[in-house]
Amino acid sequence: MIVARCFHALKGTIIKSLQTPSESLKKIISEKIVTEGPISFADYMDLCLSHPDFGYYNKGKIFGKEGDFITSPEISQLFGESLAVWIATLYNKLEAPSKWHIVELGPGKGTLAVDILRTLKSLNMAVGLSYHFIDLSSHLKKIQQNSILTSCKGMLQHEKYKNIERYFDKNTSFYWYSTLGEMNFIYSQEYKPQPVIVLGHEIFDALPIHIFEFSTKLGWCERMVDLNSYDQFELVLSKGRNKNVDSVLKPGKLTKTGLISDLKEGDRIELSPASLKLFADICDIVKQGQSASLMIDYGDNRAFGNSVRGIKDHKKLEMEEWLQLPGEVDISAYVDFAALSAIVTKYPELECGDLLPQGFFLETMGISTRIEILSKKHPAKAQSLQKDYERLASPDQMGEIYKCFYTGAKSLNEVYPFTSSIIAEKKL
Ligand SMILES: C[S@@+](CC[C@H](N)C(=O)[O-])C[C@H]1O[C@@H](n2cnc3c(N)ncnc32)[C@H](O)[C@@H]1O
Repeated sequence: MIVARCFHALKGTIIKSLQTPSESLKKIISEKIVTEGPISFADYMDLCLSHPDFGYYNKGKIFGKEGDFITSPEISQLFGESLAVWIATLYNKLEAPSKWHIVELGPGKGTLAVDILRTLKSLNMAVGLSYHFIDLSSHLKKIQQNSILTSCKGMLQHEKYKNIERYFDKNTSFYWYSTLGEMNFIYSQEYKPQPVIVLGHEIFDALPIHIFEFSTKLGWCERMVDLNSYDQFELVLSKGRNKNVDSVLKPGKLTKTGLISDLKEGDRIELSPASLKLFADICDIVKQGQSASLMIDYGDNRAFGNSVRGIKDHKKLEMEEWLQLPGEVDISAYVDFAALSAIVTKYPELECGDLLPQGFFLETMGISTRIEILSKKHPAKAQSLQKDYERLASPDQMGEIYKCFYTGAKSLNEVYPFTSSIIAEKKL
């Protein structure tokens, strides 16, 4: 009997270990649906991307040729260098603070941080800098630490305080956290006067969205993830108005603002309360002093209805297909920057700039001149440098669809290039 039980337990372990992470996650989500009923798309997306064991951001290869997609910092060092130029203009405006902070949300492989640091070091601006990495993924945190250690040729000391890891040398400190909330020491009196620059590249597009849909029969409903008779995930309509319609969509408020009128069968809107919460947390940090934030993502100054997509191996999959592959696919949605701007109006100390297309922003940071210099220095690389530049800046590639969203303390006045004169000159 004991032998039989042991064998049974062992068989369970073997079966468990034979499951792929995606199969394990599929089982977890299926069991949740069986016990709780259909789950919101936001809950499904959150589990797929951020499950601590089987979530997408904890899987092996995500970025680059061998992964599923490539991001601007991974395309070319020119991207991080251009951002560093922007940070440097702010640093000069702040009159070279003796202690200051950069906070990066969702730093991926840490490539952006490495390019920014190299540029700041060359300008002698990395002194007194604390660089804070915020990422939910423990897998990516390790890769980021490795990137920073390699870039500093391993010459960093290490310490761990509670759950927070710190690597440092005499000029610069690097910290890692899972959430912005863990950085609460930044609110302490000691840190208050120190400027903070919060950066986020492709973080908001990765935050969960709810999908609401209008039915002439049932009114506003929510698209939920359910299991069909073949045990496949499918997107179904809730049986009418549910609690998320009331608490997230708030249809009464929407009609009053005139945001939605002339509703037709099947009209959709994607809303991301997780994005609003994260951006309010960013504003809570930025309002503390002479601080600012720059978020870069794909999206526009409006809400979207049908922007969610699943990417695997550099290909856009059909939703029916990617819904069956939890944890294996990059799920993302366009960012509604108007909703983020609306949050800034709640902070009397803060203002935000006009939304600038990435191509325009990079040009104002001198990317064309940098390309010329690099091409002359490395003629053999001139062609590939030009290709990368076009990919980042050209309007028919990433130059228009990706937007730069600035928020900062009013006391900073206008920060280049988010200034009224530049925007008027370029007639944006
Ligand atoms: C699309 S990747 C972008 C990575 C990097 N910024 C780049 O451009 O290459 C999204 C990043 O955000 C992280 N992430 C996703 N959701 C997060 C959350 N709620 N809080 C913190 N990090 C998150 C992921 O682990 C990943 O590092």
